[in-house]
Parts: sequence; C-alpha cells; structure tokens
Amino acid sequence: MKKNRLKLFAVIILIASVLASCATSAPSGGYAPPKKNITVSLGTSSLTLISGQSHTFSPTFKNTDTAPDLVWTSSDQSILSVSPDGTITAENTTDGNITATITAAIADNPNMKSVCTVTVFPEEKTHFLTAGPGQDASRQTVISWHNPQGTCTLEYTEASGSEFTHSIAVEGEPTASDWADLSSIYRYNVTLTDLVPGSEYRYRVVTPDGKATETQSFRTAGTDGTFSFAWMSDIHASTAASLQNFQTLLKMAGEKADLSFCLFTGDMVNQGKRYTYWESWTDSKVLSDMSYAFVIGNHEYYPNNSLETATPSYYLDFAARADNHGSSIASDYWFLYNNVLFICLDSMAPDYARKQSPNPYLESQARWFEEVINNNADRYEYIIVCQHFAHLDGDDEGTGFYSFWYPYFDKYGVDLALTSDSHKYSRSKTLYNDQVSETGTVYLTSPMSEGKELDEIISIDQPGRRSAFFTDKKVKGGAYIEVTPQSLTVHVIGKDGIEYDSVTIPAK
Ligand SMILES: [Fe+2]
Repeated sequence: MKKNRLKLFAVIILIASVLASCATSAPSGGYAPPKKNITVSLGTSSLTLISGQSHTFSPTFKNTDTAPDLVWTSSDQSILSVSPDGTITAENTTDGNITATITAAIADNPNMKSVCTVTVFPEEKTHFLTAGPGQDASRQTVISWHNPQGTCTLEYTEASGSEFTHSIAVEGEPTASDWADLSSIYRYNVTLTDLVPGSEYRYRVVTPDGKATETQSFRTAGTDGTFSFAWMSDIHASTAASLQNFQTLLKMAGEKADLSFCLFTGDMVNQGKRYTYWESWTDSKVLSDMSYAFVIGNHEYYPNNSLETATPSYYLDFAARADNHGSSIASDYWFLYNNVLFICLDSMAPDYARKQSPNPYLESQARWFEEVINNNADRYEYIIVCQHFAHLDGDDEGTGFYSFWYPYFDKYGVDLALTSDSHKYSRSKTLYNDQVSETGTVYLTSPMSEGKELDEIISIDQPGRRSAFFTDKKVKGGAYIEVTPQSLTVHVIGKDGIEYDSVTIPAK
C-alpha cells in the first residue's frame, strides 16, 4: 500500500514537472532561437591605392535588417586616414610601397569585425616596367609599364652609348587600366621597331616632373642561329620573397649559358587579378635586365581565389607582348627569335569550352596557328609551341588537348611543345602520329620554379611508352635551352644546380 502511494506520488510529480517544462519552453511568443551575432564584411581583404586616392567601403551585414554602427580604425593614420563613414584616403608616400590595415568593427560588439590590407603606392612610381620580344625580335621589342600619370616618355639607347645623352625618346600612349583592386593607373605599351639585331639596349621611363626610373636593359635577337634562353614556369608569385627560388634557378641557368631572354609558360603569379602580386615582380627587380615572354596560366585567370572566364586584358601587358592581330584569343601571340618561331597559346580559353564539340577556341586557335606558320614560311629553322596546360603528363594525356594538337604539330614539324601546370617534370620521346619516331615533336612539361630542390626523378624508358622521363610527384626546378643551327638542347636543372635531364633535337 505504501509502495502504491509512493508510485502515485511519483507519477503526479512527473506529470506536474512535464507540464511545468511545457509551460516554460512554450511561452505565448513561440520558440525563440538563440540570437546570432551580427557580422560585417568589407567584401575584400586587399586593396591597392595610389597616394592621394580615396576609397569608400560598402560593408555588408548578416543577421540584421538594419546596418549597425561601425567603428573604423586604421593601423597607421599617417599612411591611411579613415573617416567615420568608412572613406579611406592614402596619404603621401615617397619611399616605395607601404601597407596598412583598415578595420571595421561593430560598435556594440567589437569582436565582430572585418579587416582589409591596403597597399599604398607612391604617386610617381612606374610599375611593371618590362621588355618583351616583338614579332621580329631581332628588330622589335615591346616595352610596357604602368604609371598613375597620363603622360610618360620612354627613353632608350644602345648599351654602348654613354648614359642617355643620345637616347631616343618615345611618348607613351596611355590606356585606362581595368584592374580589379586598383583604379586610376594607366598602362603603356610601346613597340620599338628599328633596333639593331644582336644588340643590347638600355631604357627607362621619365614622367613629366623629370623623374626617371632606374635603367633597365634588354637584348635583341641575333641572326646567326645561335642563342640560349631560360624556360621557367609555375612561380605563383605573391611577394618579392616568393620569387627567390626562381631567381636562384635563373642565376644558375645564367652561369651555364648566356641567356638572351626568359620564357614563362604560365602561373607567374598566384592570383592574376591582384595587382600587388604582379607588383612583386617589379619589387624583385628580376625583370630589369632581360626581356621576357609570358604565356597565360590558370593562376593568371584567378580573380581572388575563384576561377572564371575573365577578359584577359589586364595581363596583356605581360603576356601578349607582340602584336597578336588575327588571333581569336587576345593572349595568343607569336614571335620570331633568331631562327626559332615561338607560338604561344592560351590553353585556358579552350579549357572553359571543354564540353563543346567542336571546341570553338581550339578550332580558331588551330586556324590562327596554321596562318602564323604559313605567313612565316622560310623565316625559321625550328618551331617551339608554348602553352600552360600539359599535353602529356608522363604517359597520360594531360589537360592541354594533346589529341587535338598533335596532328597539327606533325603536319608543320613542331620541334618542341613546352607546357607546365602539373608541377611534375615530364619529357616524351620523339613522337609522330602519336608513335615513337625518328623525327617528330618532343613534348615537355616543366617542373615548378617556385619551390626548392628538383629530385625524385623517375626515369621511364620502356618500349611502347610515349614518355622517356617523368617524375611521379611535384618537383622544383627550371630549364635553359641552347639553340644552334644544328640542334636544340633542353637542359633541366634543380635548385642544387645539378642537371637532371637533357634532350637534343637535331635540326630537320
Ligand atoms: Fe601552377
């Protein structure tokens, strides 16, 4: 009996507590979820301004319908001032690029904030002053640069001339820039057309206030059929320091051969739309005493971490140096350097249309490719085709449309097909009609020039295989190529200076 009374009591308590808990968790207003913090975003984590320029942020918020009050702070008011409405102004800087951060914090909850790093360029500074081979690189060189001022003069002189006293001055034609993170900077492109073959030139840019850049130099192509050049790729630069390994490789290649210029097959910067990433090339000064030929890689197409089909105009100053008239894709171009016809293809545009058959970009590139070769008949001894995506990755097809291209390469006798992207080094045997052959094309995929050593190379040389050499993991290194009237020789080196592979292709 006592047991039963206890049971009844327990049941009553249970019912009462359930009712009580229902009453507390279901008030008249319904279920109230925990309150989420209001967050703020400035929309970008990096921005570049020129001294004197202003920028107003348009912050966005989450978990609120009304914009909360913000507290704006600058890490250094002497570099970057900020007003209560979030307008920042870059103060004068004369000593090179300076960086400061801007923080927008929610007034009621300062832990909720968004930060943007702002790089300030001095007003008079010339950026990206570079020289690249013109279509006839023995007589033409393309000089390009950026400057915030709408008037700039290029001065150039043969290196034997004493300073710039007898230099030739060319007025640059400014074009408005379309950089995502920097407005109000002009791009300049000047093609010098009457240069002396096999000569060294010095050049500089002078602004109307008389300020001149440091002197840089380039060399025109000779005509004797003998020269060497460096071939590097996948550097993914973001700061001047990130170029160090590449600089070491270039120096080492320069100790082994007299380099006339440097060819890049893509991924020069980590994200193509970030101005400061390109600026790291200016800061490194590695572009100052050699001309460069760039091919577009996928990283050049990256706008702040996402891949998109971008109008590639913002990097044309670095990539499509020579006049690319007639090309279906703006960043395709060609140039004749001494006895070699270089054909540089954008492999990104066809990649975007990969699912289309026929691929419109590949089709138009092929028409342009044939036109370029036919128009240059009898002007070259070798053909080198360059693109970013790999034709072959070891024995396998890479992402660079090998099956599409090899019939064209066979037809026109392409000697070398240089690609990158996989970061693994790969060299094919001499191939014709996709078969190992006495004569044909050698396909190479470069190591990456960003990192440290080149090692762990696995050599595969078995009958029936396409590849003569490849690495099974990512490797670091670079190459230089020696050209003579008799042959082309590719030398692949590691950061330790050791030559890991070489191949000689006799003249046809
Ligand atoms: Fe890469």
